[in-house]
Amino acid sequence: MRKEFNVAVAGATGAVGNQMVACLEERNFPVKNLRLLATARSAGRKMRFRGEEIVVEELTELSFKGVDIGIFSAGAATSQKFAPVAAQNGCVVVDNSSAWRMDVDVPLVVPEVNPHAIAGYTNKGIIANPNCSTIQLVVALAPIHKKVGIKRIVISTYQAVSGTGKKAIDELYYQTRAILNFLEPEKKVYPHRIAFNCLPHIDVFLENGYTKEEMKLVYETRKILEDDSIGITATAVRVPVFFSHSESVNIETHQPISPAEVRSMLTTAPGVKVVDDCQQNLYPMAIDAAGKDDTLVGRIRADESIANGINMWVVADNIRKGAASNAVQIAEILARDYLSK
Ligand code: A2P
Repeated sequence: MRKEFNVAVAGATGAVGNQMVACLEERNFPVKNLRLLATARSAGRKMRFRGEEIVVEELTELSFKGVDIGIFSAGAATSQKFAPVAAQNGCVVVDNSSAWRMDVDVPLVVPEVNPHAIAGYTNKGIIANPNCSTIQLVVALAPIHKKVGIKRIVISTYQAVSGTGKKAIDELYYQTRAILNFLEPEKKVYPHRIAFNCLPHIDVFLENGYTKEEMKLVYETRKILEDDSIGITATAVRVPVFFSHSESVNIETHQPISPAEVRSMLTTAPGVKVVDDCQQNLYPMAIDAAGKDDTLVGRIRADESIANGINMWVVADNIRKGAASNAVQIAEILARDYLSK
């Protein structure tokens, strides 16, 4: 018989937490008992799981007694504080925040790319889920890197507001409505209006002039592909889209590879769906990726300005594959291959 686990979702009432609960149900995760954790403000609220109502509890140091797996999406400060507490209670944490991703003792995992790294959970009892833009990037690039080696990546992202959380989804909605009604839009989440605008600013600015989001793409991609020699430069842009991040990706490879070879290789790559038929106006779009777990790849073509260059357009649902589904996939492997023995 399949072993069942006591599971807690920290940040269950948020945009990602909600999807995590939905993914646990959809993927038929072996849940014995599910605890839903959030702030005191949400305690007492009810959420549905497998047709039953579960009461949301306040996240405290006592929340993890008897819990086997904790899936966290309640911000970096919460993870920094509570993931070690959970681990001390014997609960393995799959953490969606940026708090632990670059810790050398914490595996950073995309199941299609480096599932073997999950074994490192024993170091600290924590496994990190990468940044949403990194996940879809490495799902698309890992097979190419394995075959011909990637020397350099130039990436520009077009990121949906849902990546900032529920408040940002509301902000885009209310600002759009206000503008279409000739009213002054209110700004609460972003420093500038996001409706009918693009902001080249995600997360905080760093001393080198990049944003933290851009540097996450650099460091996390190298860690997951296990290759610090890859040159990576990124520009991360917030766009007025609710769900799914799109990425313009330019790569330079060590060995030559043709667009046709990339297309054929990605057709059989796990988690990838090639959508690439210009004659039929078929290419990856945010509205097609939303609500699904596949990373869509298209517009695959040669970069004619260099010898071994490829351009492509990569799109995935940032809340699902970029966060919730990836975390639940990690938890599945952890449960099946490590905690069932
Ligand atoms: P709450 O809904 O009670 O504020 P989002 O990213 O969509 O804004 O969601 C963030 C999630 O993290 C929410 O579930 C939020 O709970 C939860 N959260 C934020 N800070 C804390 C905290 N200090 N302790 C527990 N949960 C938190």
